[in-house]
Amino acid sequence: MKIAVLAGDGIGTEIVAEAVKVLKALDLKIEMESALVGGVAFDAHGHPLPPATLALAKASDAVLFGAVGDWKYDKLERQFRPEQAILGLRKELGLFANFRPAICYEELVDASSLKPELIAGLDILIIRELTGDIYFGQPRGRRTAVDGHFPGSEEAFDTMRYSRPEIERIAHVAFDAARKRSKRVTSVDKNNVLETSQLWKDVMVEVAKQYPDVVLDHMLVDNAAMQLVKEPKKFDVVVTGNMFGDILSDEASMLTGSIGMLPSASLNASNQGLYEPSHGSAPDIAGKGIANPLATILSAAMMLRFSLGQAESALRIEAAVKAVLAKGLRTADIYGKGGAGITKVSTLEMGNAVVAALV
Ligand code: IPM
Ligand code: MG
Repeated sequence: MKIAVLAGDGIGTEIVAEAVKVLKALDLKIEMESALVGGVAFDAHGHPLPPATLALAKASDAVLFGAVGDWKYDKLERQFRPEQAILGLRKELGLFANFRPAICYEELVDASSLKPELIAGLDILIIRELTGDIYFGQPRGRRTAVDGHFPGSEEAFDTMRYSRPEIERIAHVAFDAARKRSKRVTSVDKNNVLETSQLWKDVMVEVAKQYPDVVLDHMLVDNAAMQLVKEPKKFDVVVTGNMFGDILSDEASMLTGSIGMLPSASLNASNQGLYEPSHGSAPDIAGKGIANPLATILSAAMMLRFSLGQAESALRIEAAVKAVLAKGLRTADIYGKGGAGITKVSTLEMGNAVVAALV
């Protein structure tokens, strides 16, 4: 088993260090190799996804990823911005299926801005298509070169596109996932306006015929955004395109009040995957030792389960995370109002506590 460790920018290095610590404590035979990615890679090598980093990712069974991005790169030409590293990895590795669970931990019910009764027991799985849509269409604007020239800023556009096979394969992923859960899938689109969404919906309906045991319903994306805060527990598996999935997964994660807790997995057709926390690089708190490493640690658990065939070790990590929460340990983001038996801990202390709680 070989994994590429790409910590990236901002809090990336701090949180990935804790996940690596947990993986090492499991005593599995995992070879780990690190490389630069994102803004730090641009600074060192002039590109956010240097060829050596991409080659390492391709040659590994899985990638453990931190986060990329910093405001200081905001003025760069599009192709050199840190975000291009994660988009490049998704495209180059064919990581089309993005799993973003939004789970409300019992101990953290009060961390949400929603009423506890709305979110207690919440367990949603957002499945986001990750290599198509407007993210990978034809862009044109001030920061994208066309034949080596940069067009003026009078007009800019990005094209939204999906092909039938792209929708089919993510539909299968969603229905398969639903079979292991409540057997319900909500497909989210904007078919009242967009042709891509009409194709999306048509293909979902067709593929659903192969899963008679799964109930499929459809929701327009604006309504879905509303229903997510109105009655989030109505949802189980949500499948949607790249752009809508980006937005809805942030919304869903914040329902739980703890984006610092939520892992994600991006898989290709051969179960090679990239695992990263659902949150970003948080440059405002980088280097302070206060970031929550649990999302990254839980991402490492997903990696063990999905790409490395080590489901038992994944369960061990997940149980250890639950145990440290039960003990009252909290990083600043999930500290809430504090109270009796609740202890504020640093990034490092949280990582150590998870290691200590492994049984
Ligand atoms: C995410 C992020 C990325 C995305 C950015 C960093 C390119 O927001 O993983 O959700 O838009 O997909
Ligand atoms: Mg996002």
